[in-house]
Amino acid sequence: MSDVTKPAAALAHPILTSGLDRRRFLAGAAGLATLGAGFTPSAPAIAQAAPLKVGFMLPYSGTFAKLGKFIDDGFRLYVEQQGGKLGGREVAFFQVDDESKPEAATDNMNRLVGREKVDVVVGTVHSGVAMAMVKVARDSNTMLIIPNAGVNEATGPLCAPHIFRSSFSNWQVCYPMGKVMHDAGHRKVVTITWRYAAGQQMVAAFKEGFSAAGGSVIEELALPFPEVEFQALITQIATLKPDAVFAFFAGGGAVKFVKDYAAAGLNKTIPLYGSGFLTDGTIPAQGEAANGIKTTLHYADNLDNAANKAFLSSFKAKTGQDGDIYAVQGFDGAALLNLGLTAVKGDMGARPAMIEAMRSAKFDSPRGPMSFNRANNPVQDVYLREVRNGRNEMIAIAQKSVDDPARGCKAQS
Ligand code: PHB
Repeated sequence: MSDVTKPAAALAHPILTSGLDRRRFLAGAAGLATLGAGFTPSAPAIAQAAPLKVGFMLPYSGTFAKLGKFIDDGFRLYVEQQGGKLGGREVAFFQVDDESKPEAATDNMNRLVGREKVDVVVGTVHSGVAMAMVKVARDSNTMLIIPNAGVNEATGPLCAPHIFRSSFSNWQVCYPMGKVMHDAGHRKVVTITWRYAAGQQMVAAFKEGFSAAGGSVIEELALPFPEVEFQALITQIATLKPDAVFAFFAGGGAVKFVKDYAAAGLNKTIPLYGSGFLTDGTIPAQGEAANGIKTTLHYADNLDNAANKAFLSSFKAKTGQDGDIYAVQGFDGAALLNLGLTAVKGDMGARPAMIEAMRSAKFDSPRGPMSFNRANNPVQDVYLREVRNGRNEMIAIAQKSVDDPARGCKAQS
């Protein structure tokens, strides 16, 4: 277990948000108990007076550590902007470090759901971990908001009314890249990724779009997650001499891949493309090596809308760092929950109405306009970005209002 991992015992002590410290919370609870015969609060009133228990299951260590931290920071920023409340209720946070380890995911999820009895789980980054979380959320009927992991099944065959994404599906952000690369004149492409659900699904979606446009993938390279020994594969790319490369890596792995690719000199001869995770939140560490990389994603740093400007400046004020897609997805996850809870005046017991409010939500995210499809996956624009001036700058909308096909989703109408 890493430093940030809260052992199970520590999880019994929620971190209360600003606006409610533990002493005040206990005093409030005691006050309710001594109100006496003159006032008998109803059960929903008591439930709504209690803090909302939000369980973060995120990677706070390993190659995706920064991604998890930014989701956490983005979510908390939104809560702070609501005076420490969601749907009018104070919030108590519980955290578990999932370490991006699928084998520990069911136990980690059960800690939050079974032991801490959280009202809602927010997580995670890694598609394999998210698969296990979705299964527990379905079995236990727990509300789940996925603030990153793109695993198609979560809003496909395993869709459920109480499972939402504030992020994207693996298909959604990569399919549009097929046409983009074909339009750029590329016909023979090599793909490279980690061999796990996200990498495989993103490459498959890119390939679907690229083949439909008339291109062909001549080699699919992969290495186990989260390995970063790229040298042999980079040598293979140099030998294959494709027109271009499409890659999915993220976090620490993306930093190393982009640097290794440039160190081998390939950035001068074989253009590198990818899903936007290749360069989101990573440019300061990648430096010059990232210049010119083109990616598709549902966010860009320079989106010229009021929500993005406000978000970036408040995120910087809170953390001292530049916001990225992960922070946006955390922020929007909190916005979505707030919207649902506000519709039912904080009463999680009124879940069908809460879910309906969330599913029909339309709001101005820092990413641009956002709504939800029948499987609770965002419908959103996917941008073509290029790394310029140390930022992911939007150069075009690659595909407008992209809606994941929700293949295999039967539970929703
Ligand atoms: C995923 O595993 O779904 C995943 C991980 C990191 C990203 C994007 C997707 O940046």
